[in-house]
Amino acid sequence: MRIVPVSLGSRSYQIKVGSGLLARLGAECAALKLGQRCAVITDANVGKKFARAALTSLSKSGFAPVLITVPAGEKSKRITTVEKCYDALAHHRLERKSFIVALGGGVVGDLAGFVAATYLRGIPFVQVPTTLLAQVDSSVGGKTGVNLKAGKNLVGAFYQPRFVLCDLDTLKTLPRREYVSGLAEVIKYGIIYDEVLFAKLERNLPKLLRRDVKTMAAVVARCCEIKAEVVSQDESESGLRAILNFGHTIGHAIENSSGYGKYLHGEAIAIGQVAAAKLSGQVLGLSAGEATRIEKIFVHAGLPVKIKVSAAHRKKLFAAMQLDKKVSGGEVKFVLAEKIGRVKFGCRVAPEMIDAMV
Ligand code: NAD
Ligand code: GLY
Repeated sequence: MRIVPVSLGSRSYQIKVGSGLLARLGAECAALKLGQRCAVITDANVGKKFARAALTSLSKSGFAPVLITVPAGEKSKRITTVEKCYDALAHHRLERKSFIVALGGGVVGDLAGFVAATYLRGIPFVQVPTTLLAQVDSSVGGKTGVNLKAGKNLVGAFYQPRFVLCDLDTLKTLPRREYVSGLAEVIKYGIIYDEVLFAKLERNLPKLLRRDVKTMAAVVARCCEIKAEVVSQDESESGLRAILNFGHTIGHAIENSSGYGKYLHGEAIAIGQVAAAKLSGQVLGLSAGEATRIEKIFVHAGLPVKIKVSAAHRKKLFAAMQLDKKVSGGEVKFVLAEKIGRVKFGCRVAPEMIDAMV
């Protein structure tokens, strides 16, 4: 098992990465004295596969867990589901000394984290991420929240989990498209922070694609280390944390303008990262050789790197970019790469350049 610390003063915690960890969930909660009662929040897909193992482990350690299952998918990340969770928690009389286990992908993690942040003004929660995206990104760093009709993640809280348990075995049942989509976030860490990781990913992509546990362990742990380092320096995204959004300005706009669901998040940000790499060449002098390596690794992973848009879609895409959270003072700001492993945030890019890129 690999342990990655997240240093946030009194809110510090550990991320544990390894095989067979779900069976240790109860013991880990007991070691931290998280409380007596607990609720496991999961979705219908994940619940079918892993709820029993989670509940058994918690019961063995003396907890009395209740299970709350929400429908799978982004549509559960909304206020009405939050309310249903509050009602279930109140019905089962979970009180201040109780805690929540988020068992699932990023949807469950964001939802259950927000419920934990707000129920009784905040009770502890732990993350048990079961998608690659959730293991390397959403379960770490404390962003929780839900969507509004007006847009994604518009209501939320920074609320850190008490620990994160990444059981690599859970990734074995993940549909291939979801797994590959998660690889787009993995590759992102190499580009923004660690050229050695990037080169390792280039070499080990076949092993990663066949979900070799040893390779996944090293890669997931390194990605978590990078996210932990960034978040420790800038928990509330007043600066550095923005680098985690490399490829997301265009990626979010693709997701939004195509109708959510057409492209998975990782697919959209793969296209966004390749576009950002091309812009990086023009704005920061990223070499053509490195821009090509970036494009190639996404292609080899099986991710899309281009989007064909009609004139009408192009209009929608640009409107969506204007809505992006990273727009300040009416200007779209980008995270761009100087070289693989080093990026700058807050870069101005002329609209004509973006237009030529997509
Ligand atoms: P998801 O949670 O919807 O999971 C994808 C699908 O896989 C779902 O159908 C789910 O039921 C299924 N699934 C999950 N684990 C499985 C497993 N082990 N085996 C089989 N099926 C499994 O999607 P996601 O990609 O994990 O997360 C996307 C969400 O994460 C978005 O809402 C996004 O906004 C959010 N997000 C949050 C942060 C953050 O910092 N909080 C960062 C990135 C993304
Ligand atoms: N996923 C981006 C962040 O956590 O800041």
